[in-house]
Amino acid sequence: MKVLVIGGGAREHALCRSLSLDPDVSALYCAPGNAGIAEVAELRPVDALDGDAVARLATELGAGLVVVGPEAPLVAGVADAVRAVGIPVFGPSAEAAQLEGSKAFAKDVMAGAGVPTARSYVCTTPEEVDEALDAFGAPYVVKDDGLAAGKGVVVTEDRAAARAHALACDRVVIEEFLDGPEVSLFAITDGVTVLPLQPAQDFKRALDGDEGPNTGGMGAYSPLPWADPKLVDEVMASVLQPTVDELRRRGTPFSGLLYAGLAITSRGVRVIEFNARFGDPETQVVLARLKTPLASVLLNAARGTLDAEPPLSWRADAAVTVVIASHNYPETPRTGDPIEGLAEVAAEDAPTAYVLHAGTRREGDAVVSAGGRVLSVTATGSDLAQARERAYKAVARIRLAGSQHRTDIAAKAAEGR
Ligand code: AMP
Ligand code: GLY
Repeated sequence: MKVLVIGGGAREHALCRSLSLDPDVSALYCAPGNAGIAEVAELRPVDALDGDAVARLATELGAGLVVVGPEAPLVAGVADAVRAVGIPVFGPSAEAAQLEGSKAFAKDVMAGAGVPTARSYVCTTPEEVDEALDAFGAPYVVKDDGLAAGKGVVVTEDRAAARAHALACDRVVIEEFLDGPEVSLFAITDGVTVLPLQPAQDFKRALDGDEGPNTGGMGAYSPLPWADPKLVDEVMASVLQPTVDELRRRGTPFSGLLYAGLAITSRGVRVIEFNARFGDPETQVVLARLKTPLASVLLNAARGTLDAEPPLSWRADAAVTVVIASHNYPETPRTGDPIEGLAEVAAEDAPTAYVLHAGTRREGDAVVSAGGRVLSVTATGSDLAQARERAYKAVARIRLAGSQHRTDIAAKAAEGR
């Protein structure tokens, strides 16, 4: 099978790495890709937001499966365009991707499906904003309704800051604050059958100790030794299956990857957000642990035959990924800095630690930074402590001027806290 992956971040590198190891995959293409993906897939230039261009490319390549990585192309209808030319595509329609594209739509689906989530108001005027802020009190949670690459959410004790963020958005969702640890749980679905993956935890804040601004994600680990072993079954029954059923009932069946961002509160599991695609950086650790070859699972989801898929099989290993970000991320990241040390990781640390590329590109013989999140250094081990040690050993070999990374990814979980 020839597979075309759309996107060019560390998530797509992780997807391409897994697909390149799958004996069912005879040729692997990625568009537009990045400098690291070029080592496992053939890169093609494309405007990932242009559905017709992606469909043309898939046809030209004779692709038997297209996998759309990021949310923006999905919300723009790229999966619909590919499906329209008769090629199986892993990723939801534009309508179903509104589950991520509009927080208000997601809240409506959850209400219809009886899925537990934070109580919320959708506000469009300053009066509505004031009313909602007062109704919930501090800490305030204010979310831009539309896509914001993980940066549209402000959680603050400061009412003025919460109000200012709300007024800067056209439409906001203001909601109840949820406390308790967060879990990311992904499920592959064809719109009917739902196949959960293993849970992971993401580190959203820029700085150690969960300080600093929200980011796209600074690191992740899996499994979660502290979580209830029944968590996956519980979330399947209370969140994932009801959401998939509700979207089908509404005439907007969801096929692809359903990402549930959860808070484990004292009153039970609550959905913080849905995404319509694999999470980044959680995918890097989840796929590091997946034993089942990926291509046929994604193809069965794309074709609506996921019920034919046996249960997924997992390695006992733990996995940790640490994101190396540019100088000034997440505000105005500096790009164009040379990255050194990649060959040392490949020579000294592989295969238990390896570097997945996010924002990188090749400039002659050099690999340079080309985005906010630059690399996702991933490692496996017999437990989280070993995976963590291996990941940080590899991180220490990388040299990128002005770069930043968190030093506490998976630290508490590795210590059994
Ligand atoms: P989101 O883009 O909805 O995932 O929000 C980004 C981050 O903001 C989440 O991962 C949480 O850390 C935080 N957050 C979002 N909603 C809430 C909430 N209702 N209560 C507490 N924290 C939240
Ligand atoms: N890691 C959070 C996300 O992918 O949205």
